[in-house]
Amino acid sequence: MKKFVMYGIFALAAGQACAAGDTIKVGMLAEMSGTFADFGLQMTNGAKAYMKQHGDIVAGKKIELIVKDTTGPAPDVAKRLAQELVVKDGVDFLAGFGLTPNAFAVAPISTEAKKPTIIMNAATSAITTKSPYIARVSFTLAQVTEPMAQWAYKSGLRKIYTVVADYGPGHDAEQTFKKTFTKLGGEVVGELRVPLKNPEFGPFVQRVKDSKPQAIFVFVPAGELAVGFMKAYDERGLAKAGIKLLSTGDVTDDSVIDALGDGALGVISTHQYSAAHVSPENKAFLAAYAKVDAKTRPNFMAVGGYDGMAAIYEVVRQLKGNVDGDKAMQVLKGLKINSPRGPIQIDADTRDIVQNVYVREVKKVDGKLYNVEFETINAVKDPGK
Ligand code: PHB
Repeated sequence: MKKFVMYGIFALAAGQACAAGDTIKVGMLAEMSGTFADFGLQMTNGAKAYMKQHGDIVAGKKIELIVKDTTGPAPDVAKRLAQELVVKDGVDFLAGFGLTPNAFAVAPISTEAKKPTIIMNAATSAITTKSPYIARVSFTLAQVTEPMAQWAYKSGLRKIYTVVADYGPGHDAEQTFKKTFTKLGGEVVGELRVPLKNPEFGPFVQRVKDSKPQAIFVFVPAGELAVGFMKAYDERGLAKAGIKLLSTGDVTDDSVIDALGDGALGVISTHQYSAAHVSPENKAFLAAYAKVDAKTRPNFMAVGGYDGMAAIYEVVRQLKGNVDGDKAMQVLKGLKINSPRGPIQIDADTRDIVQNVYVREVKKVDGKLYNVEFETINAVKDPGK
């Protein structure tokens, strides 16, 4: 009963906000502080870069970005902030979400308030099934892991150890890798799950080394955890022991790749975006991003923020400024965008993203570390559905 009354207020607030104005409000929930603060920085920078490049007036309405800090993996905080954005701020869209638990927590609010919700990073497959008002412009772990397992087998590897962060996207990566690799004839010789909060990578990595696999497949969230993992891999001498490192692009992500140092050279990863991607769209994106923040290199989360704003602009344009939840979802279903990462589409059935996945190797370009793409798997759907 309490729930019903609360959501009734949502409906009222949403109606008033729409009638109110000349402004389209985008409520962004992002990790702006704590261990994952880089997620929020990248996503908001990406969104701002799009707005800088395209102006902030669409169909005669001013686009306003309202950013709220979830502080990290904090479902209760995310939920409360989403309620505030809907009821107090009267937002037309919800967006952002670096971390999976925050996206899961907000899904019921998206449904009850009928708010189109754009996932700019969180990458557990199931997220888009939790509300018909969710569309994803980022990626899923299953989507980038399947090509990694295929590439590993193709390159002759047969015995691989998996290490993943112990939560939604890590579980998806672990399961997808095992399913794909064993179906082809490879063997997963060991599986480790590391905690999301303050993991001590040294002992984990040592266990992998002692079991002497040919390679290790890793997913941990981008940023500090990736740096921590790479440090342990280096210090424990896995490369010297001949254990190859394969990962999703989160581990060799552009925002931290320089901090990984030369120990990262040669790491093979699969992902949807590299700052080294060669295209006119990426060139324009890098230039727009640098105008917002010249100090950091944009990563896949910045592209998620940028493309998420592109999707929102298109909805506002097609609906001539009169944003309605159901109509917005109709526009989002099947929407195509020429992204800095390559062509992307929102699948009309699942509201999840279809995109190219690239196999990359860490190399030096002009003296700096980059993920250099060398193989493309076109138009990959989320295999986790
Ligand atoms: C997620 O929580 O879904 C997540 C976070 C960081 C990543 C990938 C996925 O790099």
